Amino acid sequence: MSDELLLVNARQVVTCAGPGRARRGSEMADAAIREGVAVHVRGETIVDVALESTLREAHPGAALVDCERGVVTPGFVDSHTHAVFGRARYEEQELRASGVPYMEIARRGGGIHASVRDLRARDEDELFALARRRLAALAASGVTTVELKSGYGLSLDDELKMLRVIRRLADALPMRIVPTWLGAHEVPLEFRGRDGGRREYVDRLIHEMLPAVAVERLARFADVFCEPGVFTVDEAREILVAASAAGLGLKLHADELTSGGGAELAASLGATSADHLAAISDAGIEALAGAGTVATLLPATMLFLGKREHAPARRLIDAGVPVALATDFNPGTSPTTNFPLVLTLGVSQLRLGVAEVLVAATVNGAAALGLADRTGQLAPGFSADLALWAIDDARELPYWLGGGRCHASWTRGKPCHPRDLELAFSR
Ligand code: NIG
Ligand code: FE
Repeated sequence: MSDELLLVNARQVVTCAGPGRARRGSEMADAAIREGVAVHVRGETIVDVALESTLREAHPGAALVDCERGVVTPGFVDSHTHAVFGRARYEEQELRASGVPYMEIARRGGGIHASVRDLRARDEDELFALARRRLAALAASGVTTVELKSGYGLSLDDELKMLRVIRRLADALPMRIVPTWLGAHEVPLEFRGRDGGRREYVDRLIHEMLPAVAVERLARFADVFCEPGVFTVDEAREILVAASAAGLGLKLHADELTSGGGAELAASLGATSADHLAAISDAGIEALAGAGTVATLLPATMLFLGKREHAPARRLIDAGVPVALATDFNPGTSPTTNFPLVLTLGVSQLRLGVAEVLVAATVNGAAALGLADRTGQLAPGFSADLALWAIDDARELPYWLGGGRCHASWTRGKPCHPRDLELAFSR
């Protein structure tokens, strides 16, 4: 059988073609949308995006994929998720609505602590089965690359358990999976409320957990939840400096609810991304721009928490900071696998243009994972990571509020989300 595919009969192909690095400023306003072209894939790689008649003639042996006048995009890169968890945390939603803030719920032993209690009681097989279903839902929303964080274990054994589940998922599923160690997601309850407990946990992170994660190569990145009440800027610096020395790339949950110097810290350490940033300061914006750190914005989280503030996406882009968009899929603050909904929020709440949200979801998401040289765009030599949508125009991607479902997708040239016949017939 030929390992060549030709995606033909597409109304539009959103290529996002250009340099294999994060896009900034006006570069984000061009998603390089083409018409009349086909995509030629050989094995795991895109060979060409060119005039359909030329490619059909040149490759008569290639298997044809009929795009039925739909739109082809690069597969989306969801560069920030906590998709490995046990049970849902629906009980917190009403509490917040009645006026109890997110951080107060955590102070009472709920929030992340509730997910930690739950995850510690489950075994690897259970967590694998739960996450597998959730990743299938992400794939059905056009995601072909996903970052998965640990951070609901918060002990050596439970963090390693989570990361091993992530490794199993990476081996079993067609999606490209990038593992991140987030042992510093919270100070666990058994270390809180006693003298020296926080310090002891930070020491455990650095001297016990990190070496174990590094030795087994269980993570590509390290992340810290840097926020008053969780980890301070000084603690985050100490943990990330050690992680960098152990060979991990750096990410940071920064300035999510309060402006506290998190973005400045991420920039000063040369972090690959700084995430959330709803409360980023002007100095933080300037620092990110200078460092080239990707700002990963998570508007579904602010929506779900009922906040009116959003990250200053326009000011970030105008300052030259590369912006990515991600779901932050997690049981506490963003229980959604709907990636196109994030694009909708990108336009309607963050006030970006359609091309900007498309670049943020693809090339810049890939850059937030250090992968912009291999995925995020449809161009010769890039990985064959594609999504096909049963729509007439790329502007429909952020338009169908909560409705965006992908018709089919491929990662490394292999089916990732199987062709959705129901959608084909309902169009
Ligand atoms: O990105 N902010 C910290 N971590 C997650 C929430 C985790 C949770 O509440 O379970 C976030 O929003
Ligand atoms: Fe997060």
